[in-house]
Amino acid sequence: MAPENQASHPKEHWHKLRLLLRNPISLAGVALALVSLGNIFLFSLVGLIAERPSPYIGILAYMAAPVFLISGLLLIALGAWRERRKKAGEAPLYPRIDLNDPGQRSAVISFGAFVVMFVMLSGAGSYKAYEFTDSVQFCGQTCHTVMKPEFTAYQLSPHARVGCVECHVGSGATWYVKSKLSGTRQVFAAMFNTFPRPIPTPVHNLRPAQETCEECHWPKKFYGAQLKVFTHYGSDEKNTPRQIRMLIKTGGGDPATGAPSGIHWHMNISNEIDYVAADEKRQVISYIHVKDMQGQVTDYYAQDSTLTKDQIAKAPRHRMDCVDCHNRPTHIYIPPDQAVDQALLAHRLDVSLPYIKQQAVAALTGKYDTTEAAVQAIAHDIDGYYESKYPEVAKNKQLEIRNAIDEVQQIFRRTTFPEMRLNWQTHPNNLGHFYFNGCFRCHDGQHVSPEGKAVSKECNICHTLMGQEEGGVSMAAVPKLSFQHPVDLGDLTQVNCSDCHNGGVGP
Ligand code: HEC
Ligand code: HEC
Ligand code: HEC
Ligand code: HEC
Ligand code: HEC
Ligand code: HEC
Repeated sequence: MAPENQASHPKEHWHKLRLLLRNPISLAGVALALVSLGNIFLFSLVGLIAERPSPYIGILAYMAAPVFLISGLLLIALGAWRERRKKAGEAPLYPRIDLNDPGQRSAVISFGAFVVMFVMLSGAGSYKAYEFTDSVQFCGQTCHTVMKPEFTAYQLSPHARVGCVECHVGSGATWYVKSKLSGTRQVFAAMFNTFPRPIPTPVHNLRPAQETCEECHWPKKFYGAQLKVFTHYGSDEKNTPRQIRMLIKTGGGDPATGAPSGIHWHMNISNEIDYVAADEKRQVISYIHVKDMQGQVTDYYAQDSTLTKDQIAKAPRHRMDCVDCHNRPTHIYIPPDQAVDQALLAHRLDVSLPYIKQQAVAALTGKYDTTEAAVQAIAHDIDGYYESKYPEVAKNKQLEIRNAIDEVQQIFRRTTFPEMRLNWQTHPNNLGHFYFNGCFRCHDGQHVSPEGKAVSKECNICHTLMGQEEGGVSMAAVPKLSFQHPVDLGDLTQVNCSDCHNGGVGP
């Protein structure tokens, strides 16, 4: 056989290729690629089989290993290329492809098939990677310390089964890219430990609620009112229960089923509200702009505003949407006062323990540097209290006291995160007006239009009192039910509840 015919024999061709690859760089590349491929396979398998795979499995399988695989392939090519250059004197620098030559043809076909397979597999891989970076695991569990508060609160919330991305990203490519860009920054911040503690609120690049919340909640379909029962326990020896029953006028916003009314009157459907806030957390509102269904415009200015009209005109405006009231739909950091009330109501704390409400709240609101320190202090404080003040109770109710300590420690773990410097005060809840100013940020009677109209603080525009009891005795004033404050405060529209009820130790 003539030499050129020999070269075209497929076997000969592979031999030449092998020679090209027989260099340290390519060999290292082959090893790297094979190991990564094996890892991708293994990790994907573990991810599929394991009941609750670790979040890191996904990072390894769909992000780290593919990077190594591609690096390996690049190394193989680099080695072969250098080898060829070394032999450049003997052979031409680039291969001459002749498809009429059966050997070369089969090599080109094999190579083509490999490329197609690789592209298809990496397509599937990228989709998996995309899916993975959108998973609750990736968002909530990968950076434990950073996301622990948000993730813990989320798991206990009504939205525990709604993925992080349903609210934080929504559908569509632009928001995906936007969120991944800011996400990448966050990953670096987490790696280099430069993230803020706590992670600040509000979230500035949150997608408008129309495209997230309203994908599931259909604002036009809300109507009517809902009965809510609020149960509190006093800070006295008997932990006196106090109950308030109220019809919350949730209302709705569909002009077809009646005039938009009630609380959900604000929802963008027929009325538009924009506002300017004087602070970062949007707790101090300087200016409100309303355009109602008829197109009538009203401007309200805060009488005690720290901003001048000029500054207000230049300041960025926020269009009010669901998140201005429901800013804690899922990351709900319940104030100690409320958490202890809930535990007493659910009999997880024994109401017969004297002053347990007061002691539990006091223990929860202490200043602690770590969760561990807090958990120990809670046990020490509550035990110590009963031993010194109620030695009889300490002897007879050992089990109840033990359980109370357990429960208070649990509450702390669920609601307060010293490592991230986060508690209920750093992330106010704007729904209502009891522990935080919430609705009273605007509904304080102090936001007045040039015509003299004020945003109302009348106690019955948002709810109707249905009953009020203290220690089982009715105390709401009849015939026209109005809320009776346990301590006489005079005209309630002149006070801000959250000035005294701050969620911590009782007023
Ligand atoms: C039901 C919708 C919803 C879901 C589901 C959700 N979030 Fe949020 N998240 C919000 C809203 C609303 C805010 C507050 C926005 C604001 O005040 O501007 C927020 C705020 C945050 C913040 C900023 C700090 C804070 O507490 O305000 C982080 C971090 C965060 N979310 C992470 C997550 C993670 C991680 C998940 C999944 C485990 C998740 N979120 C799931 C709606 C959601
Ligand atoms: C993927 C769907 C989905 C998205 C997106 C979503 N929710 Fe929900 N939401 C639900 C479901 C389901 C429930 C009912 C949970 C239950 O009753 O157990 C719920 C419950 C609620 C409740 C009642 C909570 C309670 O205490 O009973 C409020 C308020 C709420 N969502 C507000 C919001 C807001 C605000 C957003 C946007 C930031 C939002 N939701 C986004 C599905 C969603
Ligand atoms: C002006 C503040 C405000 C705005 C804006 C607002 N809500 Fe509400 N929403 C409330 C209040 C207050 C309640 C009653 C909650 C309570 O007392 O627990 C409520 C109740 C709800 C509930 C529970 C209703 C039920 O009958 O169980 C859902 C779901 C809800 N809102 C979703 C939304 C969505 C989605 C948007 C945006 C389109 C929105 N809300 C806008 C204040 C608001
Ligand atoms: C950003 C400012 C702002 C916040 C925050 C706010 N509101 Fe309003 N609200 C307004 C304005 C402005 C009006 C319209 C007043 C007018 O022009 O009559 C209004 C009107 C209302 C009305 C009367 C609707 C009707 O039938 O006429 C209700 C009820 C209401 N708000 C409930 C609430 C509740 C509950 C909250 C807290 C969860 C809240 N608002 C928070 C600005 C606000
Ligand atoms: C702008 C609307 C609005 C106005 C005005 C308003 N409230 Fe409320 N109030 C609410 C909402 C919304 C809730 C329910 C919050 C929740 O579900 O946690 C609430 C809850 C309450 C509660 C129960 C709080 C708790 O946690 O036990 C009391 C008591 C109360 N309001 C009294 C008053 C009194 C007194 C006034 C008059 C000074 C008043 N409210 C004015 C919206 C309003
Ligand atoms: C000047 C301080 C102050 C202000 C302002 C104030 N309260 Fe109170 N509030 C108290 C005191 C003191 C108690 C009694 C606490 C106790 O006995 O444990 C109390 C008790 C209550 C209770 C019984 C539940 C509990 O925690 O003991 C409710 C409900 C309540 N207040 C609602 C309101 C509402 C609604 C507002 C706003 C309209 C308001 N308060 C404003 C001081 C205040």
